[in-house]
Amino acid sequence: MEQNKRLNGKLPGDTQSFWRDSVDLPAFPRLEEDLSVDVVIVGGGITGLTSAYLLVNEGLKVVVLEAGKLLNGTTGHTTAKVTAQHGLIYDEFMHNFGTNKAKLYYEANAEALRFIQETVEKHQIDCDFRIQDAYLYTSADQYTRKLEKEAEAYQRLGINGGLVDRIPFEMDVKKALVMKDQAQFHPLKYLAHLVEDITNKGGLIFEDTACVNIETGEYPTVLTRRESRVQGRFVLACTHFPFYEGTGLYSTRMHADRSYVLAAKTKKSYPGGMYCNVEEPARSLRSVTINGEEMVLIIGENHKTGQGKDTIDYYNALEQFGDDVLGIEDVLYRWSAQDLVTLDKIPYIGQITSEVSNVLIATGFRKWGMTNSTAAALLFRDIVQKKSNPYEDLYSPSRFYAHPSLKNFLLDNADVVGHLIKGKLEKPTKSVEDLANDEGAAITINGHRKGAYRDTEGNLHIVDTTCTHIGCEVAWNSGDRTWDCPCHGSRFSYTGEVVEGPAEKPLQRHDHRMLDNLTSEDSGY
Ligand code: FES
Repeated sequence: MEQNKRLNGKLPGDTQSFWRDSVDLPAFPRLEEDLSVDVVIVGGGITGLTSAYLLVNEGLKVVVLEAGKLLNGTTGHTTAKVTAQHGLIYDEFMHNFGTNKAKLYYEANAEALRFIQETVEKHQIDCDFRIQDAYLYTSADQYTRKLEKEAEAYQRLGINGGLVDRIPFEMDVKKALVMKDQAQFHPLKYLAHLVEDITNKGGLIFEDTACVNIETGEYPTVLTRRESRVQGRFVLACTHFPFYEGTGLYSTRMHADRSYVLAAKTKKSYPGGMYCNVEEPARSLRSVTINGEEMVLIIGENHKTGQGKDTIDYYNALEQFGDDVLGIEDVLYRWSAQDLVTLDKIPYIGQITSEVSNVLIATGFRKWGMTNSTAAALLFRDIVQKKSNPYEDLYSPSRFYAHPSLKNFLLDNADVVGHLIKGKLEKPTKSVEDLANDEGAAITINGHRKGAYRDTEGNLHIVDTTCTHIGCEVAWNSGDRTWDCPCHGSRFSYTGEVVEGPAEKPLQRHDHRMLDNLTSEDSGY
């Protein structure tokens, strides 16, 4: 296969997601004053906007505060499968939490799917919403038993689906498991409509308004970086990674996972359906309509953020897979997405801590943010209105299931400590002179560890590689040209600006000439 030119990473804007590139969203002003409303929503992704949509339709006064631009975080980079099939989970959930909780998890997500479908139909939203069957499949003998056990769980939970022997691709598939009547859509077309509805009904939206803290109390108050105060009866923290943790220790209870997406024109036509394998390396497929033509999203190569190989290799591996299965004619888009994974794989949705009842949080959706976010928004609506909701206990962030949470808690934090120490000890072997144009790496300058990227014009951009969250060492992501942190998934542009939290402050920038005068003490080594 001739490697597609875009995958050499030379084209500007080539990590733009198709969703972002195909919808014009309105721009909103920055908040420059104090406000008082019923509900303050922090975060302009699918969770925040769906919550705002639901609450303005209940007649409440709502404001959405977004640190950057609306729908530019994980929602803008999703694969937009609207499904309750979230990998091999139901047998595991039944085993770990019991049949009841496993069933509740399925129902919460199935209900979210129905809500999205009904909203699309009610408003006649043109968002490429299509019912599709979802498949898990394996090409490895050792996974067929796992699929069989998952199929037994489907049966016990009353999930419409079951085992099949093949899927419509030329692949060596040993077994597959279908969940019937799931869906896919264009998330930004859908959400653009909700944004219009929110503003039409008097909801307020502000962009470029970073929030940095919450003063808790009867009327919790959100403080913005530019020192505005926004007070409400409730605050909903819908910022992917929590911008405010309270005493909830969220940093220690989640890890970030990165995956990659290609949108490709293929030689063979797509047979319909949405597919995920269950083994490593992860592979996933769905169709997408681009300029009226059916194309394919090829997804996979998941790894913990900042802990992978050279990111270009992930895109190349996906392109190779797509070529093997469907024949790649052209790659139109490529992008990556970051997801947060909780200790027990169930999102944290609800009161930020058991003592604070009016600050609610939603995070840790794994790869399944379309339905889990919608379930979160529906739960928030009920909590704000003091109505009972069947999923409140299931998603409660204060839950603690000893197995397997405790083990994962220890593992995740051992991992963070390991990265803290390892990053400090590692001395990169590259120096500035070794960098070609459009190449980045951790380098050593006068014995000091720094991060350097030489742009396509040959200009050097040097940053301190110490993450401004709690000090792990960031690693270069060549696919997105970002510095990614292996500990909690913060990401920084090559100039050091925060692309994704929990870090709030940029990486320290250096002028190459100034580094010549650095001493070991100056740089903390
Ligand atoms: Fe926590 Fe970097 S994101 S240390």
